[in-house]
Amino acid sequence: MTVRRTIDQPVFPADTLARMETLYPLQAGLLHHRLPDHPLLSLDALAKLGESLPATQVEYNPGDVPIGIDPDDLPSNGLSIGETIRTIDTNRSWAVLKNIETTPAYRALLLDLLDELKSVVEPRTGAMLTPQGFVFISSPDSITPFHFDPEHNILLQLRGSKVMNVWPAGNERFAHRTQHERYHTGGHRNLPWEEAYRDGAQQVPLGPGEAVLMPVMAPHFVANGDAPSISLSITWRSEWSYRESEAHAANAALRRMGLDPAMPPRWPSYAWAKTVGWRVARRLKLVS
Ligand SMILES: [Fe+2]
Repeated sequence: MTVRRTIDQPVFPADTLARMETLYPLQAGLLHHRLPDHPLLSLDALAKLGESLPATQVEYNPGDVPIGIDPDDLPSNGLSIGETIRTIDTNRSWAVLKNIETTPAYRALLLDLLDELKSVVEPRTGAMLTPQGFVFISSPDSITPFHFDPEHNILLQLRGSKVMNVWPAGNERFAHRTQHERYHTGGHRNLPWEEAYRDGAQQVPLGPGEAVLMPVMAPHFVANGDAPSISLSITWRSEWSYRESEAHAANAALRRMGLDPAMPPRWPSYAWAKTVGWRVARRLKLVS
């Protein structure tokens, strides 16, 4: 049986797949895409999607916030999510629609896009697990504060421009091991920011037709250009990313016991061994 694709042409050109082969999974870098104007991704369709999603899947706030901000300090923009998206040109806001794969039409689009990447991803990090999609809608000059995310991610720029500022995952100068441990035991994604970090940034400017490959847990902040912006983030997890997450959670448990465990190396077999050790310890009730 042939499965009907939601898009007629491949979205990722051959040279982007070749580039991804050199970058994935550890390096950030510029890619290209040919996602055409898609009816599911118009402002009106996205406003309707935002109104249909539960509040837990929608996040929005004023866009002119500092690069480093505690999530508890984020003010409200005083609008509904539908209004925020429909008037994004002028309301100086930032919005994200999370887990769009919970809506069947968006899930189909997401799976079509991820399917094009399988030949690159699966030989390197195994099966593509937990497909998730996010749409970011941002006013001119808005900022997405400094943070990290647990997924393998490609952010496709659809409208407007932005600069992705990204730092190496695993470099403790930018995200200390205790920040990883905090995040992987239920903490918020936002990270403490220092102006001195700017020197170490890899800057990836993005316009329509461009995309950026983002490594798991690479610290980043996003600065939008002077036009309203829409970006689609397509993400997946790997056995490796789950193991690494569990290794950080295991370290948090060890730290609570008074130890000072080292940052786990970014290496799948290491993360695997550490996790197996943690599971044994849990079974023996050495850690909670
Ligand atoms: Fe992010």
